[in-house]
Amino acid sequence: MQQPVSVVTAPEHAPEHDFLAHVFAQYPLEVTSAEGVWLTTSRGERVLDLYGGHAVVGLGYGHPGWTQALARQAKACNFQTNAVAMSVRARAAERLVRFSRLPFASVFFVNSGAEANENALKIALRQTGRTQIAAVEGSFHGRTAAAGAVTWGAQKKWYGFPRTPFNVTFLARDNAAAIVKQVTRRTAAVIVEPVQGLAGAVDLGPEFLAALRRRCDQVGALLIFDEVQCGVGRSGHPFAANLYGVMPDLLTTANALGNGFPCAAVMMSQQVSAGLTLESLGTTFGGGPMACAAIEAVLEAIESERLLERVQRVGDYIREQCIVGPVTGHQGAGLLVGLRTTRPAKEIQTELLESGILAGTASDPRVLRLLPAFILDEQQVDMLRDALRDLPP
Ligand SMILES: Cc1ncc(COP(=O)(O)O)c(C=O)c1O
Repeated sequence: MQQPVSVVTAPEHAPEHDFLAHVFAQYPLEVTSAEGVWLTTSRGERVLDLYGGHAVVGLGYGHPGWTQALARQAKACNFQTNAVAMSVRARAAERLVRFSRLPFASVFFVNSGAEANENALKIALRQTGRTQIAAVEGSFHGRTAAAGAVTWGAQKKWYGFPRTPFNVTFLARDNAAAIVKQVTRRTAAVIVEPVQGLAGAVDLGPEFLAALRRRCDQVGALLIFDEVQCGVGRSGHPFAANLYGVMPDLLTTANALGNGFPCAAVMMSQQVSAGLTLESLGTTFGGGPMACAAIEAVLEAIESERLLERVQRVGDYIREQCIVGPVTGHQGAGLLVGLRTTRPAKEIQTELLESGILAGTASDPRVLRLLPAFILDEQQVDMLRDALRDLPP
């Protein structure tokens, strides 16, 4: 049984003045160190982390291979621009394509999920010469001008730009027939998270994704999979594209890719790659050697530690064991888990944290979202199950 955790509302050893912009609602804990799937708070309490820093920490904290790879690269050469060849960059790109088991022909490394989507959309608009993008209701693609434009609800809530850079139409998630009406010869691309993250681990499924693929082929639009959250093993497969058997023209990924070292990638099909010209894309930090060393170490660990099998096994175990107490059902794939709750998930999140377990919520108020590291084990799932069972239904 986990020990109760006390609530912290502000850092206890913070400087006198708080100059951090106040834009983040904060969880009531302060973390000072971490190992594996465990966080240690400023009060010395241990918290089981089922949120993984928002699906970022795939390997867990303090992974030796990842830590050593970064230390080695920091000593060897911490930075060089993309204009200078580095084998670590070339190796990371090759390794990512091989890991994907998909016929991608090139990789463009950037720094964040939004930047990856921004570039994918730019490529699609430019290569098709069209002006419209289709996205899917419930989507989250990032906070920049183009990524925010295709994010469901952003324009009413936080968008902040006077206009979007292109026209956007949103497709209903449960209506494959509407795709034909809304995806037309004016559509440059459809952008979709195969398993929607922030929406609450909403698995869009093979039929819907295959219908998008078919329609894109019919009208000459490009299909972009945003696997920033659901990619790099989180679905129990290299990418959700593998899980559903649908090949996109572009695939963006980020969160677990660097295990916390900031990095992201746009993966492109042969046809899209062939349309790229020198200096049509650019970045200063993207593809830096530290990021590429982190990517190599992440992919090496996922493969050598057989983490895809583990994600499937432990993901199934969560779904078998944790439909207890206030949880009535589950959705999502692998270790992107949405637990449906009888009452506001925020309440349950607070109650779990009091018993030493950190879980996430979603834009659906009745979904508790779990995004743990891929090294989670069954015993730790048992702790979650027992804690949920003790909560009011
Ligand atoms: C599916 C998806 N796309 C895009 C983003 C934006 O990524 P970033 O915050 O790195 O810009 C996120 C953020 O987690 C995401 O979950």
